[in-house]
Amino acid sequence: MSRLTLNLNDGNKIPWLGFGTGTALLRKEVKDEVLEAIAHGITHLDGAQIYGNEESIGDAVVESGVPRSSLFITTKLWEVPAGKTVRDTLVESLRKLKVDYVDLFLIHTARQHPDLKSVWKQLEDLKKEGLAKSIGVSNFRIKDLEAILPDAEILPSVNQIEYHPYVIKATKLLLEFLKKHDIMPTSYGGITPLNRFKGGPVDPVLDKIAKRLGETRGRPVTPGQVLQVWLRQQGIPAITTTSKAERLLEYLDVETIPDLTPEEIKEIEEEGSKVHHQVFAQWLSEDN
Ligand SMILES: NC(=O)c1ccc[n+]([C@@H]2O[C@H](COP(=O)([O-])OP(=O)(O)OC[C@H]3O[C@@H](n4cnc5c(N)ncnc54)[C@H](OP(=O)(O)O)[C@@H]3O)[C@@H](O)[C@H]2O)c1
Repeated sequence: MSRLTLNLNDGNKIPWLGFGTGTALLRKEVKDEVLEAIAHGITHLDGAQIYGNEESIGDAVVESGVPRSSLFITTKLWEVPAGKTVRDTLVESLRKLKVDYVDLFLIHTARQHPDLKSVWKQLEDLKKEGLAKSIGVSNFRIKDLEAILPDAEILPSVNQIEYHPYVIKATKLLLEFLKKHDIMPTSYGGITPLNRFKGGPVDPVLDKIAKRLGETRGRPVTPGQVLQVWLRQQGIPAITTTSKAERLLEYLDVETIPDLTPEEIKEIEEEGSKVHHQVFAQWLSEDN
């Protein structure tokens, strides 16, 4: 059971561990995978309009029998079709998800929206109406946030970004900006050093820390879990995914692993900063 939750700036809570339905599951039917995640006690489901599978998330939510109030469901705004409003797109998502509200509605990227201020205002209205309990953004640079913050009545609660040791340098200023404005970063792609850029400078450090933590608690700890503890300690939710039940158990187990030491954190960050690997939303590291 995933129990760890973090406080958002609007008073709502977000479960630290989120199960994603993009990347490996993009445009696939995800009913079975989502049902499996919920059966293991994962309550935070990360979806998006562009993933093309909100219907099957909804099927899993209904079939799971888990009360709606126990789940935390995110979806993300993609384009607003001509003649439609942001609200129309969310109403369509809610129909597919078979719920009356989402817990978090994000602007997926700033790129599709030349008039960000107007889009943000529409998200604020959706929060006021109760169709989205919390609202936020994803893949936003500082300049995108600066475009909406001066007129915002409601702050974004989160900025969901690619975050792992190989983008530390590129995201440093953005993270400082988010902290200053009390906007929570959430991480996708957190396992990137192990699944996309294996053999990088962080690997030996993760192995060493995994060994130390495994000995400390008397049960094995994996390098992937070390990356997730690193996120947890920074108060950053981990949006991850898997096709394997044993990996779900591995992710859920992270909440029980002791903290890294300040020296270990420093070592991950020093080694991570030696290279730059950004997989998604390249513009985040092009300029801020
Ligand atoms: N907002 C955005 O623009 C955006 C962009 C990308 C992603 N996302 C969200 O974030 C979610 C997760 O993204 P992600 O897939 O990039 O997350 P991730 O946590 O970096 O990677 C998870 C993937 O890595 C594999 N994996 C896990 N541990 C591993 C290990 N120790 N060694 C090798 N492979 C391992 C898993 O596959 P198996 O366990 O099946 O082997 C799974 O497919 C997406 O589904 C989506 O919801 C959002």
